[in-house]
Amino acid sequence: PKVAVLMGGASAEREVSLSSGRECAAALQSEGYEVVTLDAGTDLPARLAEVAPDVVFNALHGRWGEDGCVQGLLEWLRLPYTHSGVLASALAMDKQRTKDIYRAEGLPVVPSVLATQAQISAAHLMPPPYVVKPFDEGSSVGVVIVREGMNAPRLPEGLPDILMVEAYAPGRELTVTVMGDRALGVTEIITDGWYDYDAKYKPGGSRHVCPADLPATITDACMDYARRAHDALGCRGVTRTDFRWDDSRGLDGLVLLETNTQPGMTPTSLSPEHAALIGLSFGQFCAWMVEDASC
Ligand code: DAL
Ligand code: MG
Repeated sequence: PKVAVLMGGASAEREVSLSSGRECAAALQSEGYEVVTLDAGTDLPARLAEVAPDVVFNALHGRWGEDGCVQGLLEWLRLPYTHSGVLASALAMDKQRTKDIYRAEGLPVVPSVLATQAQISAAHLMPPPYVVKPFDEGSSVGVVIVREGMNAPRLPEGLPDILMVEAYAPGRELTVTVMGDRALGVTEIITDGWYDYDAKYKPGGSRHVCPADLPATITDACMDYARRAHDALGCRGVTRTDFRWDDSRGLDGLVLLETNTQPGMTPTSLSPEHAALIGLSFGQFCAWMVEDASC
């Protein structure tokens, strides 16, 4: 079959997506697929008509590629595509609505509110420490941390007017990939400071302990919560759910942060390591997604 790999696009995570796309395209070629790569611009409908793929491999991240927009286009064109559909993508892209769904499913989260920049800069909307971040971006783009003793924050230029203010969840950074109906494993991410954009993508920017060295109750809870989050949001294919665990509080210290419907597939990304835990090479992991594609 002919596979079109969608990559790049115009989101803040364009560079991450180009890296994911290159890796996946090369791997699918090695697996024997005919592969065409498409940098997803506004001419995408015409390019897809030209290429006429059997399956679309979505390697986009962020706005337009991870939020239901491109998924809607592919539905319209009746082209089978990888990862989640329109509604799950749109819900998971919105970190606030995601938490409403987690709560309804009985999954633990920290409190958060949406507010305008003016409200956020005028007064603390919750006791510090807290985090101010776009509710619809990935890769820690635009995250501001307000620590104890700090004033209400002056926000950097270029952020959207409505932002999420979220209680700072202390603790260890954990993440779980779900593939279909199966949670693959838990990784702990260890960084010197904040797990920010550089720590995520610079080689050596963070260390992954995979599988994470955790009490069995925490490993089991992470796997169970990730699977339930995937299902509650109505996701398909592969997702990755991020957690924080305050190990001084046992199971009560575990919270979900978000579910990524287009998890990174770069050389420093987490999900390919989870696939390796169940014996899948990177190429086999990508091929599974192609075979699982639908519309
Ligand atoms: N947003 C990045 C790509 C991730 O979650 O892996
Ligand atoms: Mg994310």
